[in-house]
Amino acid sequence: MNKEVDVYDYMNVIMKQLKKGVLITTKKDDELNTMTISWGKVGLEWNKLIFCSYIRPSRHTYEMLESGEFTINIPLEQSEDIKKIVAHCGSKSGRDTNKFEDLDLTLSEPMNIATPGIKQLPLTLECKVIYRQPQDKEAIFEDVKGGFYKNGNFHEMFYGEIVGAYIAE
Ligand SMILES: Cc1cc2nc3c(=O)[nH]c(=O)nc-3n(C[C@H](O)[C@H](O)[C@H](O)COP(=O)(O)O)c2cc1C
Repeated sequence: MNKEVDVYDYMNVIMKQLKKGVLITTKKDDELNTMTISWGKVGLEWNKLIFCSYIRPSRHTYEMLESGEFTINIPLEQSEDIKKIVAHCGSKSGRDTNKFEDLDLTLSEPMNIATPGIKQLPLTLECKVIYRQPQDKEAIFEDVKGGFYKNGNFHEMFYGEIVGAYIAE
């Protein structure tokens, strides 16, 4: 069962958990993958409520995003299990392993898109990609660039219109 929620009621939770790591889940054809992110933001553009994520082209998730949609999976509390999930999904690639099987993750029933959420991180944002844009490397100030891009691999922004939000129970 999913309980629909208003994203505005969870802004604090989303931003606080993001810093610690949340999951972005993608489904392309029959394949499912998930990875940890801690860069992202919720905002308004074109009068749409958007979750923007920043994905490096080297990630398997980057290829999976050709599907045009993703879910953001956010824990409602921290625990050792959540830390383990975040660490595993942030260090292993879906090219090499099935992270759902590795961690016994349980899927929620999608509501408005084809991609499910993950019950262990129950606050789920369903997002449809409406805009994507590689970062302009010339426009990033040198002191901000720091050590982030020694080997290139500049993040690409994926703007997902939030078309559904629920807590998976
Ligand atoms: C805490 C944490 C936050 C991360 N945030 C991001 C991020 O915002 N963008 C990104 O491209 N990679 C990020 N990563 C790295 C990916 O999660 C990692 O490379 C992952 O193994 C890629 O999985 P995939 O190849 O299955 O897509 C983060 C890793 C950790 C541990």
